Amino acid sequence: MKSFNIALLGGDGTGPDVVAEGVKVLDAVGKKFDIDFQYEKALIGGCAYDEFHNPLPEVTINIAKASDAVFLGAVGDWKYDTLPPEVRPERALLGIRKALNLFANLRPARVFEELVSSSPLKPELVSGVDIMIIRELTGDVYFGCPKGVESKNGKKIGFNNMIYTEDEVRRIAHVAFRTAMKRSKKLCSVDKANVLDVSRLWREIVIDVSKEYPDVELSHMYVDNAAMQLIRAPKQFDTIVTGNIFGDILSDEASMLPGSLGLLPSASLSDSSLGMYEPIHGSAPDLKGKNTVNPIATILSASMMLKYSFGMDDASAEIENAVKSVLKSGYRTPDIYVDGMQKVGTVQMGDLIAEQVLK
Ligand code: IPM
Ligand code: MG
Repeated sequence: MKSFNIALLGGDGTGPDVVAEGVKVLDAVGKKFDIDFQYEKALIGGCAYDEFHNPLPEVTINIAKASDAVFLGAVGDWKYDTLPPEVRPERALLGIRKALNLFANLRPARVFEELVSSSPLKPELVSGVDIMIIRELTGDVYFGCPKGVESKNGKKIGFNNMIYTEDEVRRIAHVAFRTAMKRSKKLCSVDKANVLDVSRLWREIVIDVSKEYPDVELSHMYVDNAAMQLIRAPKQFDTIVTGNIFGDILSDEASMLPGSLGLLPSASLSDSSLGMYEPIHGSAPDLKGKNTVNPIATILSASMMLKYSFGMDDASAEIENAVKSVLKSGYRTPDIYVDGMQKVGTVQMGDLIAEQVLK
């Protein structure tokens, strides 16, 4: 029997609630495909700060490194908002990305036909949208030095450094081209090359890498235009590759195409098969334990785990199909509820999808 070790990092707020539903669905997959999933829990974010005065303790990093994949809920709670920046829960997220070298963040934004009416945008605009945003995750202003707040002539100045090395651009470009090859062979690289030197290097390197992928149609777009085009005509996009900060913003924007943050999964990948899988939504601490949040983003993240870390494409598709089928049957969590549908909670949604996997 095949076996995989999964580090379970529920985190804060509703993170553990949704991860529990993801585990339920993984266990259903295990049963069906005769795979043994072993889980090891570890603390991250505010809950780790409470226990260790450190949002990302060494023990958590070690458990994550020793696993085959990391399954993460979400971090953060308002009660930690007054902590110094170096121990805030969000820091743990950046820290674990760096510690595991998770430089490639895949954020699909796909509109399920069943949910077209849940989007705030017109149905004809979003119906059929299927975009893969590939965000570089360990560089850019997020990690660039020098950074800080200093005083000069009695006035404070704050600064961060937007920086990419040629090698960093090259490796994310390869991930993007390979992804585009498996999709519709269209890649749009988003930058701000009309203003930023770092973007001019980005574009130069992406063009250089493109020579190795002659079948992929490469285009370039400035980030401000991309933000506009994503709403004006989202179906023009297939695969998008961009840097850390632009990707952070554009992926939140793209999440509104399907209508709810509660639907969007993500995968953060390294050079090895070890990856981290998490919903793109936050921890929503006010909803903790209320059985209302949507577990679908987390369940679809488990599906990405099967595909990208375990090479189980069939099992991955099985989860996606189960989600679609449950939605087709009319079950909705409150965030995607519309009149005439059957409202269910977090736990029931997890149960329904797990049952569907086993059918
Ligand atoms: C994300 C989040 C994080 C980021 C925050 C919480 C540090 O917004 O994963 O997109 O900016 O990367
Ligand atoms: Mg973000």
